[in-house]
Formats: sequence, structure tokens, C-alpha cells
Amino acid sequence: MYNSKIIGLGHYVPENVVTNDDLSKIMDTNDAWIQERTGIKERRWVQPNTGNSTSQMGVKAAKIAIERAGIDKDEIDFIIFATLSPDYYFPGPGVQVQEALDIKTVGALDVRNQCSGFVYGLSVADQFIKTGMYKNILVIGSELHSHGLDKTTRGRGVSVIFGDGAGAAILSRSDNNESGILSTHLHSEGKHAEELALTTPGMGKRWVNDIIADNDPDDVSYFPYMNGQFVFKNAVVRFSEVINEGLQKNNLSVDDIDMLIPHQANLRISQFIQKKFKLSDDQVYNNIMRYGNTTAASIPIALTEAWEEGKIKEGDTVVLAAFGSGFTWGSVIIKW
Ligand code: UT7
Repeated sequence: MYNSKIIGLGHYVPENVVTNDDLSKIMDTNDAWIQERTGIKERRWVQPNTGNSTSQMGVKAAKIAIERAGIDKDEIDFIIFATLSPDYYFPGPGVQVQEALDIKTVGALDVRNQCSGFVYGLSVADQFIKTGMYKNILVIGSELHSHGLDKTTRGRGVSVIFGDGAGAAILSRSDNNESGILSTHLHSEGKHAEELALTTPGMGKRWVNDIIADNDPDDVSYFPYMNGQFVFKNAVVRFSEVINEGLQKNNLSVDDIDMLIPHQANLRISQFIQKKFKLSDDQVYNNIMRYGNTTAASIPIALTEAWEEGKIKEGDTVVLAAFGSGFTWGSVIIKW
């Protein structure tokens, strides 16, 4: 059995900074509320006609990751793309990356696991590498939320939270058994699918034709819905469980964690986990203040930044953990 190791990381965020004060000009909200409830100060939102889409941001992040990995694009054996906001409803953006990077006709898999998407993608890549099937896999998480949010007071409970951006990693076969991905842990609980979804609870399955036929200006079924407090309560429980599961599997304790990178859902959730596990500020990386919640992109963006800032060093135990819509959740335990 082979080992798998992250050998390159990259991220891209659009230039356009949207502050909480900017939002208060278009809906009934304010900086104090947003900071107090979420920790977010600003986020990046793609401006129209800037040539940025979910796939294109993913490509920009991927180019950096490939360069830092020191491999040629033709050495990539497989592409995994995690997003809930694809350029097209179908096909998914994996194939667009294959085309844009002019990679040979390797497989391209699209992952639909929302906030846990990158963790799910990394887990799939890890299995392919450990079994010897592939050598280098490009894993991308990218989101363009801003074009699909209800930016009125009606949607403020959701729209102030989400931001745009992309992150990417190259996972590669390694002969070093001392480092790499130690284990991954994935979960789901579909009975809560409608608590955070692009649907209106109780409305059932609605297709484009239903929405057009109703022609109802108050129809919000094409905007994301989130039962914030319910999601929050489940998140703190599941984050804790899945981090513990990963530690136990590898006979590690909380003291062994050098860096925890939680999905950037809400600063209060990260702080709750930090307190529960008695971790210091140096042991948890957060950037939600600057980017908001970028769903599948949040972990690869945060991982890239933490690495760029020298906060992840060889030999460190790094824990990635995510929770979100589905519900789905998961963790990855890495010896860097
Ligand atoms: O990444 C996927 C996973 N997602 C999460 O983990 C999100 C988890 N949930 C949360 O982060 C929080 O529940 C939110 C940040 C979404 C909301 O915070 P909250 O403390 O749960 O607030 P709330 O929804 O209970 O709303 C409290 C009040 C309400 O007013 P009333 O009914 O008390 O008069 C809302 O209408 O705050 C109001 N409100 C706002 N006020 C100003 C909701 N959104 C806003 C807003 N600005 N943007």
C-alpha cells in the first residue's frame, strides 16, 4: 500500500472586497450584528464581467498548486472538483478544469458535498492513491455564492455569511510512511437535508418549470435556505465527534494537534471547538473574518494560507474538519 501526501497548495479569491458596511447599504443589517454573530468583517464577491466563475477560480488556484508541487500538468492522473455552485447545473466543473488546464483526458469527478466537499474529495483522492490506482490527483474546492444569494433583507440571515473563492491541492503518492494523510472520516445524516438547502422546506421538489409556472415574486425556493440555529447546534456536536474519531483512529490525543483547520462556517463555531478541545490560538487557523464562509473552498483556502504563513511545518499533526449541508461532515488527519 502506498502513502499519499499533499505536495502543493494554492488559493484564489476575487479582488472585490464587500464589507459589512457595504451590505448595510443594500439590506437591513449592520457591522455589529454580523461580527458578533459570525466573526465576519468582509468577504469577496465576484463582480460581473470580470471573467471569474467557479471553474475559473478553481483553475487559478490549481495553477498555483501545480506549480508549487513542482509537477507538470500532464502528470496529473485525476481531477476532483468540489462545489455547490457549479458554472452549469451540468456538466460539473471538473471537465472545465481538464479543458482549461489542457490536461490529457484523465477522469474528472465532481463532488456534491457542500461544506464537506473538499474533505470528501481529499478522502476519495487518498483512496485512489493508497490503492496504487493514481499517482497525482488535483483536488479543488471552489464556490461562487454571490450570484445566487437573496441580497435583500428577506435573505440577510444567509447572504451576509457566504463568500466566493477557491483552493486547490495536489495529493501525490509518497514512499515515506512517516508522513501524509493518516486517515479520513466521512459521515452523513440525510434526514436534515432541508435544514440547509437550496429549497424551501415543505415545498417538496420544485423544478425550473414549477417556478416559471407559478411566476410568484415571493417564491424563494431558488435561494439557499438555512435553519441557522439548528445547523449551528448540530455543527458543534459533529465537529467535535469527527475530530475525536480521527484522533482515536490514530492513537493521538488533543495535545498532539499542531494545527486544526476547521471549515470556516462561523467564528463562534470555531471558537466553541477551540475551547472544548482546550486549544491555543496558535493551534487553530481562522480566516472567516476576511472571506466569510466559502463552503467547499474554505478548508483549502485556509490550509493554503496557514502553510504560506509558516504555521504548518514538517512533522506537524494537522487536522481538517468540516460540517455542512446534507448534513454531511468529515475529518482528515495529516502528518505533514
Ligand atoms: O457552512 C455551513 C454550515 N453553516 C453554519 O454552520 C451556520 C450556523 N448558524 C449560524 O452561523 C447562525 O445561526 C447565524 C449566523 C446564521 C445566525 O445567527 P443567530 O444568532 O442564530 O441569529 P438568528 O437566526 O436567531 O436571528 C436573530 C435575529 C433575528 O431577529 P429577531 O427575530 O430576533 O427579531 C433575525 O431576523 O437576528 C436577525 N437577523 C439579522 N439582523 C441583522 C438575521 N440576520 C441578520 C442580519 N443582520 N444579517
